[in-house]
Amino acid sequence: MKTAMDSMDAARIIGYFKGKSILITGSTGFLGKILVEKILRVQPDVNKIYLLVRAIDAPSAKQRVQQEVIGTELFGLLRENHGEGFQQFIEERIVPLAGDIIYENLGLEAPRLEELAKEIDVIVNIAATTNFYERYDVSLDVNVLGVKHLCHFAMQCAKLKMFMHVSTAFVSSDREGLIQEKPIKPGESLCEGTFLDIDAELRLVREVKKELSASDSLDVHKMGRKAMKELGLQRARHFGWSNTYVFTKAMGEILLGQLRVDIPVVIMRPSIITSVRADPLPGWMQGTRTIDTFIIGYAKQNLSCFLADLNLVMDVIPGDMVVNAMIVAMVAHSEERGAQVVYHATSSLRNPATYSVLYESGWRHFTENPRVGKNGEVIPTRGMYFFTTIARFHFYMILTYKLPLEILHLVNLLLCGLFSRLYNDLNRKYKFVMHLVDVYGPFAFFKGCFDDMNLERLRMTMAMKTTEDRMFNFDPKTIDWDDYFCRIHIPGVLKYVCK
Ligand SMILES: NC(=O)c1ccc[n+]([C@@H]2O[C@H](COP(=O)([O-])OP(=O)(O)OC[C@H]3O[C@@H](n4cnc5c(N)ncnc54)[C@H](OP(=O)(O)O)[C@@H]3O)[C@@H](O)[C@H]2O)c1
Repeated sequence: MKTAMDSMDAARIIGYFKGKSILITGSTGFLGKILVEKILRVQPDVNKIYLLVRAIDAPSAKQRVQQEVIGTELFGLLRENHGEGFQQFIEERIVPLAGDIIYENLGLEAPRLEELAKEIDVIVNIAATTNFYERYDVSLDVNVLGVKHLCHFAMQCAKLKMFMHVSTAFVSSDREGLIQEKPIKPGESLCEGTFLDIDAELRLVREVKKELSASDSLDVHKMGRKAMKELGLQRARHFGWSNTYVFTKAMGEILLGQLRVDIPVVIMRPSIITSVRADPLPGWMQGTRTIDTFIIGYAKQNLSCFLADLNLVMDVIPGDMVVNAMIVAMVAHSEERGAQVVYHATSSLRNPATYSVLYESGWRHFTENPRVGKNGEVIPTRGMYFFTTIARFHFYMILTYKLPLEILHLVNLLLCGLFSRLYNDLNRKYKFVMHLVDVYGPFAFFKGCFDDMNLERLRMTMAMKTTEDRMFNFDPKTIDWDDYFCRIHIPGVLKYVCK
């Protein structure tokens, strides 16, 4: 058996997946699709890829996989490669499973689970709720208990060779300085004097839910939803994390460390994942990341200001590079009993990209490809103002919106509520913007730098001699950020997200 530090080339990587059965969660999402497509393309002789998707029954699961995974533009190259045999190829390899990781049995019938446990070689857990302001109970169910349930299932898999868990580099929250690829210890919290007890958090949520359901308010559902969202933020901040998403992802990692018995585990922590850079479809992406709001606002010219310090580094990494790193890491650590390796799939250390690179690329892109109005007229590209601190943004918001709102409030009182609707509407919008800044702001001013020494060591084992070897490139030093943003990512966001 080869070890992690043995040399790695395309033949070894591709050969690894031959005849393997792989269970993947999160395939309807952005990253999951890129992984499924890549495995099918590089190793058509993979045995089976089981895709666990949320659906009420098998036909619905099949339909979701067909429409949301296989039917997307991302699978165009694979479709072309197989021609008329594409559908048959997919049917022979892909097995949709209607399930849900929030359940102990993954939402599957016992016989099905037993069969799978005999067959699965590799588990890849990509599923997560990625909403920063998600309900605490939902986040705990998916990002924490979901990991536990998959891990329990992994322990029952007789021939399991690898458990790959996708986390996020931001489990370190908004720390400054060099952030290492270290596991999070049980009880570890980011706030001095606090001890993070996951069981206590689960109990707390159960109690709050019980109290809420005992309430005789008519609007229990809405109230419960808001209360659960607020509880998530409050607990995250109590322990030093900036939002519910990164906090629960950190807890998922802790639990994985605690539960693991003898399974080889790799935790892949990407930073902000951006569009596919190389293959199969440059620019392809799904969903809107924080930096893409800026691109969309720029494109629509409905955003005159943005929250960012142009000198700061935004840690981004193209989706195909994350998938390549995952694939190589799975092969490298396969059957390494008891291993638990953490990798940062990040760029800030090796090839930092500042917000100014993105801004200038955007400027270049929109100047070279000016937007055209309804009547064919060219819309000039205007510059954008950047708030370099949250305090400056707050000051601007108070002067421009809060003060006029207060005046409107007074006038409304004097006129016996004549402007109530207008006031309530504007006040709600104001609060919403302030809330967004509260939740997402810390990421705009992130000052950490992700160390990726472990991943660099893995990179050093890569041969990179042939075109096939380079299909598994995950070296951020090979990215020309200006070219990538201008020629690939920005057009990709406009084509696949703004469509
Ligand atoms: N995107 C990024 O910038 C980024 C950065 C760092 C780390 N990550 C990590 O990378 C992974 C993938 O991110 P993404 O951007 O691809 O996310 P995404 O597009 O939001 O996809 C999330 C996936 O998880 C599935 N899922 C959610 N709850 C589930 C449940 N209870 N049972 C089964 N499946 C469930 C979703 O299924 P439905 O279609 O049914 O909702 C979807 O397929 C996540 O673990 C995330 O934490 C992402």
